[in-house]
Formats: sequence, C-alpha cells, structure tokens
Amino acid sequence: MQLIISLSTLATCAIAGGVLPRDSTTAVVDLSVTRGAPQHWASGFIYGIPDNENQVAQHWYEDIGFRWGRTGGAQYGAPKRGWNWGRTEYQGRLQSTLSNYRSMRKVGAECIIYPHDIWGTDSLNSSSYWPGDNGNWQPYDTFVKALMDDLASNNALEGLVWDIWNEPDINVFWKRDTQRWIDLYIRTHKIIRADSRFKNVPITGPSLAWRPMSSNKWWTAWLKAIADAGTIPDQYSYHLEGDLNAQDNDPQYTNQSLGALLQQYKLPERQVSINEYAAFNEMVPSGYAWWISRLERYDWIGLLGNWQGGTTLPATRATTPPPTTPPPPGFHVYRYYARNMTGARATTTGSEDARFDAYATLGADRVRVLAGPKVRAGQWKVQVRGLAAAGYAGASGSVDVEAWEFQGSNAFAVTGPPAYKGVKTYQYSSGSVTIPVSQSNNYTAHAFEFVVKKG
Ligand SMILES: *[C@@H]1O[C@H](CO)[C@@H](O)[C@H](O)[C@H]1NC(C)=O
Ligand SMILES: *[C@@H]1O[C@H](CO)[C@@H](O)[C@H](O)[C@H]1NC(C)=O
Ligand SMILES: *[C@@H]1O[C@H](CO)[C@@H](O)[C@H](O)[C@H]1NC(C)=O
Ligand SMILES: *[C@@H]1O[C@H](CO)[C@@H](O)[C@H](O)[C@H]1NC(C)=O
Repeated sequence: MQLIISLSTLATCAIAGGVLPRDSTTAVVDLSVTRGAPQHWASGFIYGIPDNENQVAQHWYEDIGFRWGRTGGAQYGAPKRGWNWGRTEYQGRLQSTLSNYRSMRKVGAECIIYPHDIWGTDSLNSSSYWPGDNGNWQPYDTFVKALMDDLASNNALEGLVWDIWNEPDINVFWKRDTQRWIDLYIRTHKIIRADSRFKNVPITGPSLAWRPMSSNKWWTAWLKAIADAGTIPDQYSYHLEGDLNAQDNDPQYTNQSLGALLQQYKLPERQVSINEYAAFNEMVPSGYAWWISRLERYDWIGLLGNWQGGTTLPATRATTPPPTTPPPPGFHVYRYYARNMTGARATTTGSEDARFDAYATLGADRVRVLAGPKVRAGQWKVQVRGLAAAGYAGASGSVDVEAWEFQGSNAFAVTGPPAYKGVKTYQYSSGSVTIPVSQSNNYTAHAFEFVVKKG
C-alpha cells in the first residue's frame, strides 16, 4: 500500500513538472528505438486445420500471417488411433499430419509435428506399452525411424520442426516417470541427429505444460540431463496456458526464470517457442493483444492453444473460420496485427502491474498501436515516446489519434471488424503523448493510429 501511494504521488509530480509520467498502469511505446520489421511471432495455432486441404480457403491463413502450426492427427478413433495399434492405424494419423503439413507449407508456415499423437498417446492407458517398458525400446525406435522415413519420402522435411514429446508432465500424455521421459528425449534427439537427412530439421523441446522454474523437477532434471548428454534442442519450448492471475504464467517471468536455469546448468540460450499459449478465457481480443505484445517483445515463437476436442479439434478455430460462418474475433485481431501493422517494430514496455501491454509499429504512413489488458476491466494508459521519429518535432504540440475497438466476448463470438471510435486530439510534451484506455469489459482490445508527418 505504501508503495502504491508513493508511486501515484510521484506520477502526479511528474505530470506537473512536465517530466514523463509512468505509473503501474501505463504501457510505454518508444518510437525512437525500433526493432526491425514485424515478424508475426505470435501468428501460430495448434491443430485447427481440416484434413480436407481445400476446405479453408488459403487467404484465411494468409490474412492472419500464419507462421506456425502444430499437428499429429490427434483424437481420431479407429482405424486412425496411431502406431501403437499397428501400421494401418499409424497410416491414418500420418496421412492427417502430412495433409496438415501441406496446408501449412502452402502458406509458408512451419509445421511442428507431434510424434506422441502419431504414436497414439490419446488412445492409450497405463496398461499399454510405453516406450522403454521393461527396458525394451525397440518398438519406439522402430516407430521413430519409420516416421522419419515416411516424412523424408513424402518430401515433408522443409519447414518441419520435430517436437520430441508433448506435455509429459501432464498425466494424459505420459504414464511413466520423469526419468523415462528424459531417456526418451535423449534417445530421440540422438536418432534424429544421427540422420543427415534431418540436419536442417530443428528439434524443439521439452514442450512441458508447466513453466521453467527452479522448483519444477521436470525442468531441472531435464536440463541437467541434456547438458550432460549434449542433446540441446534448437528451440526451448513450453506452454503458458495457466491461471490468469498466476505471476509465473507470463513471458516476463519465464524469460528470467529460464535464463537463470540455463546459467545454472551452463546451457546456451536458444530460440524460445511457446508452442501453446493462452487459456480459453484469454482467447478474446484483449487477451490476444496482451499475448501478442509479450511474444513480440521477447521474439518468441507463439502458437495459440486449442481448447476443442474430438471431432471439433481439427475443424474449429479461433483465428480462421469454418467455411460458411463469418470469422471469429481472433481473426480480426490477428489480421490487423499481420497486415495493417507494417514498418518497424517500436520498443515497448508493459505496464508495471503486468496486466496491460502494447505492441506498436512505426510505418511509413502511420504509427499503429495494438493494446489490451490481460482480460480485465479497468483504467490503463499507453504512453508513446520518441514522437520526433514520427515527425512530431518541437517541445510540445498536438497529435490526432484515431481509435478502433476489437470486440468479442468469447473466442467464437461473431462481431465483425474493429469498430471505429473516432479521432481525439492529445497534447504532447517532451516528445511524449499519453492515451488513456478505459475498459469497461474484460474482452476489448484497442488500436490507436496517428499519421507520420513527413519532413
Ligand atoms: C486400457 O486399454 C485397453 C485397450 O483399449 C483396455 O482393454 C483396458 O481395459 C484399459 N485398461 C484400463 C485400466 O483402463
Ligand atoms: C530475456 O532474458 C535474457 C536472459 O536470459 C536477457 O538477456 C534478455 O534481455 C531478456 N529479454 C528481455 C526483453 O527482457
Ligand atoms: C487495415 O487495413 C485495411 C486494408 O488496407 C483497411 O481497410 C482497414 O481500415 C485497416 N484497419 C484499421 C483499423 O485501420
Ligand atoms: C472480468 O472477469 C473477472 C474474472 O473472471 C470477473 O470477476 C469480472 O466480473 C469480469 N468483469 C466484467 C466487467 O465482465
């Protein structure tokens, strides 16, 4: 409480003194320090692609700048239950995977495969054979090699990423202990790296459901083992789909916690891949904007989670529509992010309360800001600094800011494109303008734009 009082006092003084104010609810965009062209790091999702390759028109993927997908033929019943049920059932899941691979490659997206799905994990229980049972790895090794041969002979290596095993720390996907999974990890890594056909296929792992923390035994045991074995993945992957209010369910936390663990185990930094992000209640415009801002800041690969199941798993998407219905809210947010936000990325900082964030680009024509709270109502601000970079010279002056709102109270609500909210004139001083964001619901995201003045 003491801290809050002194912070707000400080902010008031700062405004009065004409210095740049900053309080716990302000996200900052700095146009004077840019970070290269937009990469659309967050434009990925898991599953959600029908096996019928023509069912979803290509433009739906292109509109959202689709960059990463993840697939493995999960949740099909007989005769497509996976390798563990024999070669015929393996073919069913393999063909689904190959079909999704082709759909992704057609629009230039990378395909992260889920071998645990092709194996058939979702159709097994603890009485089934699991890799390494009774010291017998032969069925698993045969599977990995057959899958590698089939991917190679189907020309499915370019743009492929091998994800060794998904969420072994969740009992649904792994019914043996931590050490057995680590043995599987190291073994698989070695098999893939021993095959020159796969030399350009990145390996991603550990794809744990839980976060990298020193208290997490799955992480610490795995990190130690891969350091000892020299089997370091090309990407460190894990999931951020936890509780909305969990402090560690946030890139800002896990960037530090993983960094500390890598130092402890003397492991190198690698590309991070959050190959499942956002819980279902975060899959609304405000949540999308918050996650996009975070993932862009860290340059992390991001794939939205998928909270459907069974037959709707491949068919229902939060960012691309089934063929006959209008697009869901996520489509509009990701299209704006991918298509409108051109130029160079500005440096940004999320609000200190960790609840509000912004992503911004400095284009040749306009400055564009996408902002949203992590699914809550309240008052926030976006402070845009470095206005001189957008042609707003002098110590003070005014900026005409246009605003739009992205609506949609749930992932599948149909709302249409963002609603125009008009233009407001704000005064700037010391090259900085502050735009208030008043949020009366949990789900709205905001776009702010102003023209770049030509010298
Ligand atoms: C495990 O799965 C097999 C094959 O479907 C089934 O016969 C068996 O009853 C299951 N066991 C348990 C403990 O559920
Ligand atoms: C993320 O953590 C690394 C250390 O692992 C650090 O070098 C980097 O600056 C952090 N990124 C940001 C944006 O804070
Ligand atoms: C985004 O770009 C499209 C195509 O140029 C345009 O029609 C639309 O108005 C833009 N959206 C916003 C919110 O500026
Ligand atoms: C926003 O979500 C929180 C937590 O789920 C809920 O308590 C609150 O009522 C919601 N607020 C609004 C305005 O919908």
